[in-house]
Amino acid sequence: MSAPSRLELELEGRPYQIVVGDGLLDDVGAQVPLPLHARRALIVTQAPISAHGYPERVALALRAAKLEVRIHEVPDGEGAKAADVLTGLWDVCADWPLGRDDLIVAVGGGVVGDLAGFVAATWMRGVALLQVPTTLLAMVDAAIGGKTGINLAQGKNLVGAFHQPLAVAADPSVLATLPERLRVEGVAEIVKAGLIADATLLERIERDPEGVRRGDVELLRSLVLRAAGIKARVVASDERETGERAHLNLGHTYGHVLETLAGYGTYLHGEAVSVGLIVALEVGVTLGTTPPALVERVRACLAAVGLPTVVPALDREAVHATMARDKKARDGVRMVLLEDVGRPVLVHVGRATLDEVLDRLEGGAR
Ligand SMILES: NC(=O)c1ccc[n+]([C@@H]2O[C@H](COP(=O)([O-])OP(=O)(O)OC[C@H]3O[C@@H](n4cnc5c(N)ncnc54)[C@H](O)[C@@H]3O)[C@@H](O)[C@H]2O)c1
Ligand SMILES: [Zn+2]
Repeated sequence: MSAPSRLELELEGRPYQIVVGDGLLDDVGAQVPLPLHARRALIVTQAPISAHGYPERVALALRAAKLEVRIHEVPDGEGAKAADVLTGLWDVCADWPLGRDDLIVAVGGGVVGDLAGFVAATWMRGVALLQVPTTLLAMVDAAIGGKTGINLAQGKNLVGAFHQPLAVAADPSVLATLPERLRVEGVAEIVKAGLIADATLLERIERDPEGVRRGDVELLRSLVLRAAGIKARVVASDERETGERAHLNLGHTYGHVLETLAGYGTYLHGEAVSVGLIVALEVGVTLGTTPPALVERVRACLAAVGLPTVVPALDREAVHATMARDKKARDGVRMVLLEDVGRPVLVHVGRATLDEVLDRLEGGAR
């Protein structure tokens, strides 16, 4: 492989690298720092990822670095972020056993990353974690920043921990096997990243939406690098989400509501965020914060890559109730709005404003 690109996540005291390169799977053992005294590595993955041989390639690369490696498959889908799957993994660690100097490797999308990350956070009170994200969403978002966890029947991500990885190793060539809908979904987070911090990123998508949709690896690599860089910078400035990290929630206030109320799976996360971006921008226009031309620009960009932009009609009481549960707000909610590209602001938005915007948008009317 040619030399991969490297981004530094500047966390105080324990910086780590995000390494991006085609063919990286076959060379991870040499390209990322492994824990000094590690003897064993447990790879956590899922069947659709194994089907393409990715975990096996990572295993070979780690064996070349003198580690003893096992691959453990968990069930596919969001359902894997569950307590019974977690205890199953603890059992695997205990039976082998995986020692406190050893390594857990997540080879997969955000589900595997969150689950394996939580195992790494908890096993022996915390062991080293290597994130090898294989979905676009995980490469630009989930694998970076140290949030790990599982779901309960009562809600998503209710149990978890912050546990920063040793490194993130992203090989964009694996995105070629990702189904188009999942690739396109990931683009919503990239558009979001561009909107909060990087006009160039947005322009690159606008210049070749068809290439994004088709999965042009060259283009995706450049998008992953820039978008991962934004997430890394924001996380470094605010690891525990007390300030700036909240800007990453642009599009997520309404996005979460849509994901929840439409029934999980109707809208993929990124698809719901796409609609959520439109709602946030329209709220901004209504409040005089956002220039109207920006909404039209973003709507065109999202639609060109195949993301939804129409706000469906939902039960309004349920919308407010869901938002209130998410954000602990009774009358309205705190939302990230945009003054322009690269200028996010956190604003309290009253219920009346939201109602006005949703009345105007629901069902496709503008
Ligand atoms: N920790 C964080 O900061 C953070 C941020 C955003 C999202 N998340 C979490 O991420 C999860 C969603 O992650 P996701 O969107 O990556 O979905 P996912 O992990 O469910 O992966 C989607 C599907 O693609 C398959 N797959 C993965 N890589 C593939 C490849 N290269 N080729 C073919 N198939 C492949 C998977 O097996 C799965 O079926 C959610 O649980 C969400 O809560 C976490
Ligand atoms: Zn998101």
